[in-house]
Amino acid sequence: MITTPRLLLRPWRDSDRAPFSAMSADPEVMEFFPEPLSRKESDHVIARIQAHQEKYGFCFFAAEVIGNAAFIGFVGIQHVPFKARFTPAVEIGWRLARRYWNRGLATEAAQAVLNYSFQTLKLEEVVSYAVSGNMRSRRVMEKINMRHDHAGDFDHPLLPVGHSLRRHVLYRLRRSEWRTLQQRATAE
Ligand SMILES: CC(C)(COP(=O)(O)OP(=O)(O)OC[C@H]1O[C@@H](n2cnc3c(N)ncnc32)[C@H](O)[C@@H]1OP(=O)(O)O)[C@@H](O)C(=O)NCCC(=O)NCCS
Repeated sequence: MITTPRLLLRPWRDSDRAPFSAMSADPEVMEFFPEPLSRKESDHVIARIQAHQEKYGFCFFAAEVIGNAAFIGFVGIQHVPFKARFTPAVEIGWRLARRYWNRGLATEAAQAVLNYSFQTLKLEEVVSYAVSGNMRSRRVMEKINMRHDHAGDFDHPLLPVGHSLRRHVLYRLRRSEWRTLQQRATAE
């Protein structure tokens, strides 16, 4: 469990299935994915996340707004599930239901997940990636001080050649950089 001033990041529950299915069927939420998901597909995503948690002890955590909303989406980390030039690597990722956007919630959760990744898990590096036009997601990456590795931009290997969502940008943050930023923030 990870807590922030407004959020609890926690393991998934059966009661998350319906709201996760609803947000994964929303074309706006899924704008940068090949298709909105059916209930069967969103349940499969949860099963994969839970298997990751079981195997590695961390995952894309279910997110709730404390005392306000039992499930709003996910924010967390996972091993990148495909091969690319930058893998093996651990990625940070997020997906929230539309009505919770633009309140700083993804950024707040992501900052806490980075602390957990570097302080508790002692990961050397965390990466993140997005379809290059996904400016909301890129903005979250920038706000948590990840830096765009232009040379690392890549074509997503699970999308067919010519697919409009294939081109991805890669962002990185190393533990040493994160530590320096933390020290600077404390000194100010
Ligand atoms: C990406 C996502 C998680 C961001 O969640 P969020 O809680 O709204 O994020 P935050 O409020 O912390 O930050 C969003 C930032 O994007 C900015 N933003 C919003 N719409 C934007 C747009 N069209 N273009 C550029 N920036 C935009 C906001 O202004 C804010 O930046 P600011 O604080 O500097 O003003 C959410 O939009 C989402 O779930 N999207 C769909 C799923 C998705 O794309 N996931 C990522 C896949 S890589």
